[in-house]
Parts: sequence; structure tokens; C-alpha cells
Amino acid sequence: MPNYTFVVNGKTVTVDAPADLPMLWALRDKLKVRGPKYGCGINVCKACTSHLDGEAFNPCVTPVSDCAGKEVTTIEGLADGENLHPVQEAWLEQDVAQCGYCQPGQIMAAVALLKKTKNPTDADIDAIQNVCRCGTYFRIREAIKSAAAKM
Ligand code: FES
Ligand code: FES
Repeated sequence: MPNYTFVVNGKTVTVDAPADLPMLWALRDKLKVRGPKYGCGINVCKACTSHLDGEAFNPCVTPVSDCAGKEVTTIEGLADGENLHPVQEAWLEQDVAQCGYCQPGQIMAAVALLKKTKNPTDADIDAIQNVCRCGTYFRIREAIKSAAAKM
């Protein structure tokens, strides 16, 4: 099998994998980075949302070969050492999570939104497609607004 090298959460790593292996499995099974969750595997639920070269992407439908030479950031790579990202702080402040399963993806989607849109409207926030089966959408909206005000 070929080798693919990329940066995950600031560390250069190489995995030996078939070219079409979904990046989600490279992260979770080969690299033991389990923040990105598996929900649907078909780019619908967005539970796996992470960043590829700073843009939100869904590793369940991105082949490992497409990530070669790029920078992948997962929820594990968001904090700066002991200092949480402002979006993570806002999530705690608003007590957003219920079961928590969708939340790594929700936070990564929120961070990607705030990079592009400093003061998102309700419509901008509602355009996030990440599914939360516990229905935490109201608190997600409040947390994104709170983080936006502080960033
Ligand atoms: S697992 Fe559902 S979008 Fe990736
Ligand atoms: S917190 Fe349970 S699925 Fe979102």
C-alpha cells in the first residue's frame, strides 16, 4: 500500500493506506484521533467535520490520498495547549452539549464559519448543516454569537 504524509494537529504523520481509504478511517483507526465522529459516512450528518488547510471538510468522504501534503485539524488540535479556543469556551459557557456525539463536528463547523463571517446572522448560523439528534441548535446559536462577540 502507498504511504501518505500530512500534518495532523501540528504533527507530521505518515500512513500506509489504499488511496481511496476515507480520511476518517485514517484518523480514527490508524492515527487514533477519535474526535471526528462517524455518523453517516455519506456527507450528510457532518459528525466528522474537521478542517483541511483551514477549511471545513468531511473526512468520511475525502480519500486519504486527497489529504497528502495538507494540514488536517480536528477538535483535538483546536485548543492552544491549556487554552481552549474561544468557540470551545463559548460551548462550555452555554452548556451546549447533551450526549456530545455531534459536538466536535459542530464546534469545527462553527470555527470555520467564524473564520469567514465575523458576525454571523441567524441565517448564516442556520446554514450550518451539522445534525444534532439531541436538538441543541438553540444553544449552538447562542454559543456562536457569544464566541463571535469575543473574537
Ligand atoms: S460521518 Fe456523516 S458526514 Fe461524515
Ligand atoms: S448533542 Fe447529542 S447528537 Fe448533538
